[in-house]
Amino acid sequence: MGPGQPEPAPWAAPLAAELEALAPERRRRLRSLAPCGSAGLRPVDGAGGPPLLDLASNDYLGLAHHPSLQQAASAAMARDGLGAGASRLVSGSRPVHGELEQALGAWLGRPRVLLFPSGFQANLAAVQALADRHSLVLADRLIHHSLLTGVKASGARLRRFPHNNLEALAQQLERAQREVPGRRLLVLSESLFSMEGTSPDVPALAELCRRHGAALLLDEAHALGVLGPGGRGLGLGQAGVSLISGTFGKAFGGGGAFLAADELLGEWLLQHSGPFRYTTALAPPLAAAALAALRGIQAEPQRGAALLQRAQRWRDQLEAAGWPRPPGQGPILPLLVGEDARALELQRRLEAAGLLSVAIRPPTVPEGSARLRLVLRHDLPAGSLERLLAALGSP
Ligand SMILES: Cc1ncc(COP(=O)(O)O)c(C=O)c1O
Repeated sequence: MGPGQPEPAPWAAPLAAELEALAPERRRRLRSLAPCGSAGLRPVDGAGGPPLLDLASNDYLGLAHHPSLQQAASAAMARDGLGAGASRLVSGSRPVHGELEQALGAWLGRPRVLLFPSGFQANLAAVQALADRHSLVLADRLIHHSLLTGVKASGARLRRFPHNNLEALAQQLERAQREVPGRRLLVLSESLFSMEGTSPDVPALAELCRRHGAALLLDEAHALGVLGPGGRGLGLGQAGVSLISGTFGKAFGGGGAFLAADELLGEWLLQHSGPFRYTTALAPPLAAAALAALRGIQAEPQRGAALLQRAQRWRDQLEAAGWPRPPGQGPILPLLVGEDARALELQRRLEAAGLLSVAIRPPTVPEGSARLRLVLRHDLPAGSLERLLAALGSP
């Protein structure tokens, strides 16, 4: 503290101490990147730099710059305005919201769909619909932060099960039923784990939950548009999946999110959900873009399948080059390296070769499991894999 500077306020001291304690390799910084060309991002901070091939974003189908989405968004902006101006239950509902909800419901075979401004918010709403302070939530150890925040907000008790381990989950369900018969149980999982690239056996998971009378919330944020028949996710047709959460921020190339439910849950959310009620409705241009994205995915369902085939080839080639085979089947290919510094070094090495992939470190992933998160997308130019392998060198 310099002379003449005021003492920090008592509330500020713990924040300052926490920031002080942050190791340099854990400190995050915002970085501005300007889209350029096909799958390109140009750094614009400081000295800038040449364009980088985007192996980091979740725009799996390359839809963020698709003309049909942009035209739909522009038309909605001209017609409905930039923002909805109010929450859905006040005066913010527009025809495009209803149209999108209906189209998603038909696509996923779920009668009720409700839109949210973000997936984080949808997940808060979803957990609060299915659990209260008397409930027990059993969550995969690696679920997304938004779901954990939802559990905290619900007041439910939380237990974690090892990642995708259905035997352990079965034991926990049995134990939970023995402990407090009749207690409300909720299981949380994802159909494509964003930092792992892995998926659970969804039919077996759904059946397990159904057998134990537990609700199952399946976050399909990274799967929709890519995994399952026609990109309709892994929860498709699974009666044991009580609620599906999806976002338009990834394969749909836009922003916003939704929950897909049965009649009862849909009506409960409409009548009781705070995260649905007390927020401005999804901006109409984003709703229109999501509808255009859905129409595009329906018209070209092979895009997702082609991406999966490509992902398989990338896994094979990475393994052949001596890297640990990235787990899973989908377009997320984490190269597990362990130490933060190693993951950061790989990120720098790739960047020097014109490729952008981000080192993911704790607390986003467990301690000692830092990784380079490689993300495949539909619009990568030919030769991208060869560039990547050359840049990575040998492990
Ligand atoms: C698994 C998962 N669920 C939910 C979200 C939140 O979605 P959104 O970006 O729409 O808030 C994300 C994105 O970060 C995610 O990876």
